[in-house]
Amino acid sequence: MSSGSGRPRALVTGVTGQDGSYLAEQLLGEGWDVWGLARPASQPGNTRWIDHLLRGNDESGPRLRLIAGDLADASSLDRAMATVQPDEIYNLGAQSHVQVSFELPAATGQVTGLGVLRLLEAMRRHCPRARFYQASSSELYGQVVESPQNETTRFYPRSPYAAAKAYGFHITRNYREAYGLFAVNGILFNHESPRRGENFVTRKIALAAARIRAGLQERVHLGNLSSRRDWGFAGEYVEAMRLMLRVEQPEDYVIATGDTRSVREFCEIAFAHAGLPLTWRGSGASEQGLDEDGRVLVAVDPRYFRKAEVDALRGDAGLARERLGWQPRVTFRQLVEMMVDAELEAVGLTAG
Ligand code: NAP
Ligand code: GDD
Repeated sequence: MSSGSGRPRALVTGVTGQDGSYLAEQLLGEGWDVWGLARPASQPGNTRWIDHLLRGNDESGPRLRLIAGDLADASSLDRAMATVQPDEIYNLGAQSHVQVSFELPAATGQVTGLGVLRLLEAMRRHCPRARFYQASSSELYGQVVESPQNETTRFYPRSPYAAAKAYGFHITRNYREAYGLFAVNGILFNHESPRRGENFVTRKIALAAARIRAGLQERVHLGNLSSRRDWGFAGEYVEAMRLMLRVEQPEDYVIATGDTRSVREFCEIAFAHAGLPLTWRGSGASEQGLDEDGRVLVAVDPRYFRKAEVDALRGDAGLARERLGWQPRVTFRQLVEMMVDAELEAVGLTAG
């Protein structure tokens, strides 16, 4: 696989996000030329996690280049595809926040749902022999009908985001079947890292634990503490994306740890690691997490409750283990501690 420079080329949408930055790093490490599709408005202000890759550009070595585009704008995708002529396409771009999707349902549908179709159409026109990865989500399972969830579990989306992802899933599969494209869905369960957006619950908690310990914040307000997720480490999950495009047959895969934990458990480990062990008082909307001196560090705020919640997710990545040889290595505790360590370091502290 190669084109142009002789090196294989990848086009990554969502390159400024958590997964995009890890994926670009890994592809560059493998010697690929990587082009990141980025909204012009997000350059240069929003390139924190890829600045080191952009700085690394040189004449001879592999490099990350940005190309302007928006999943809502078909002409920009057409231009990007014609320019890059990629061997692999990773569609990671999305309005990816579930709560936000209730406030911006149509915009979410345009980008997270129809954006997939626009990209597939551009691929079909300019590089039908490329391989296409769609960032599908465990949110598809929503109100789960069985546990753990695998590739055959029925979908029950619970948000405009999940409904848009359901469209993206099916249109990817349809283009595979109708046009013979190598197009696959990775159904990824929640994956986190120090690069997670600050409005997702894990990063919000890690950030708060460090800032409270440093005296920069008094407490953190959260929503549903009982919600359970199957949380893994993003760096490992993007490895699975690459593997899915390197096998002979295009297939859809679940990527998960098989472990499910509550938001409350995440708080307990995070705060203890920051030297602030919690005890709990109250329940539901009046639940609070207190430190040893009785100070309230965690308070529930119903503003963060979802209009329709996904109560519990747990994935079965057996197929990926068998066919891709993929399995997670970072445990839940290691993930939480990694995230808290990064935030402690950012405020000049260390764990304990
Ligand atoms: P993220 O950090 O929120 O990144 C989203 C990316 O999408 C950003 O680079 C953003 O660019 C870009 N984007 C937003 N609107 C766009 C548009 N109109 N056109 C082009 N790009 C646009 O998300 P992530 O956690 O890395 O997740 C990557 C993908 O996997 C997403 O599709 C997400 O829905 C899906 N997913 C994530 C998880 C998870 O647990 N992380 C699990 C399953 C599936 P800007 O910098 O311009 O905003
Ligand atoms: N964001 C947020 N903020 N969530 C909170 C809060 C809070 O203050 N308090 C409790 N939660 C609960 C949410 O109600 C939800 O049940 C859980 O924490 C996780 O929320 P998020 O971290 O926002 O992630 P998500 O599971 O809704 O969605 C993420 O994972 C999906 C895969 O299952 C996103 O990355 C999606 O893009 C992804 O598809």
